[in-house]
Amino acid sequence: MRQIHIVEVGPRDGLQNDPANLTVDEKLEFIARLEAAGVTRMESGSFVSPKAVPKMADSPAVFARLDRSGSARHIALALNETGVRRAIEAKADEINFVLVAGEGFGRRNQGMSPQESADMLVRCAPLVHEAGIPLSATISVAFGDPYDGDVDIGVVGNLAAQAQRTGIAELALGDTIGAATPWDVRRRIDRVRMEAPDVSLRMHFHDTRGAGLANVFAAVEAGIDVIDASCGGIGGCPFAPGATGNVATEDVVWMLHRAGFDTGIDLARMIDTARWLERVLGHSISSSIIRAGAFPKLDNFSGTPR
Ligand code: COA
Ligand code: ZN
Repeated sequence: MRQIHIVEVGPRDGLQNDPANLTVDEKLEFIARLEAAGVTRMESGSFVSPKAVPKMADSPAVFARLDRSGSARHIALALNETGVRRAIEAKADEINFVLVAGEGFGRRNQGMSPQESADMLVRCAPLVHEAGIPLSATISVAFGDPYDGDVDIGVVGNLAAQAQRTGIAELALGDTIGAATPWDVRRRIDRVRMEAPDVSLRMHFHDTRGAGLANVFAAVEAGIDVIDASCGGIGGCPFAPGATGNVATEDVVWMLHRAGFDTGIDLARMIDTARWLERVLGHSISSSIIRAGAFPKLDNFSGTPR
């Protein structure tokens, strides 16, 4: 059975833009519940400027109190040298660096042009390698920039080639604003494979315009084995106007299991976690499985995280 690995991004991409302010204890419970549902890799926080993203200001406190007794690997997001140093200090299991494919978004999100973000990765990578921590990168707005519009596929390929030279273990193409279509997913994967043949690929989709699951399908058909998703489909980037959540983990898991793939995730527990999250956030969440239920029906699950 083909295995598709889910990287859960709810605790970072999900919570960074949600109106709710979760306490450190609530974030830790979210993370514990995700792990109990079978998540083995997750973005548990980001080490960026607290002025830029106040909701992630407590990431050091979250990392300090993570339960490390299980096998889950906790990824820290970083965009500059300060962030990388802070993530190493927090004992992140992996660091994910953010490259940017559009000038308009890049300036507003991280004060960098696409080339400046690539140069920043060149400076940051040796720090991560010296610390012995796996390094991955995401090319944000790889399918479209909310300020500049279309993003040239050549820019994405060029960033991928530069990223490969820094020794990253994995590269994600990020559709930050839900601009991708399944056909464009295929084209960009093919292009990146040509320009960065040695790096393994992960895909990161937001479901802003309804093409999220179709894009996951296109990626899986193209042979991609690692997909980012967020429990409950929460999330979005504070620097992308109108941005909405990632593809919902429970929707992706349901679709993949129904098609015969293995994700290692317990769908009933993931649904339970999404329902718990809805209560903690205090507003409704948007996943289809939460609305419609799984098919065939799953037994109602309501257990403790451990
Ligand atoms: N963690 C905490 N503080 C940081 C930091 C980091 N990684 N990097 C910079 N800072 C602080 C500096 O100390 C400085 O603080 P001061 O104003 O009190 O002196 C301030 O932020 C500005 O630093 P500077 O190096 O000039 O950065 P900048 O203003 O060009 O901003 C980023 C660059 C990357 C720090 C900022 O744009 C950012 O944090 N963006 C995050 C965007 C994000 O997370 N988006 C969602 C995920 S993609
Ligand atoms: Zn995202």
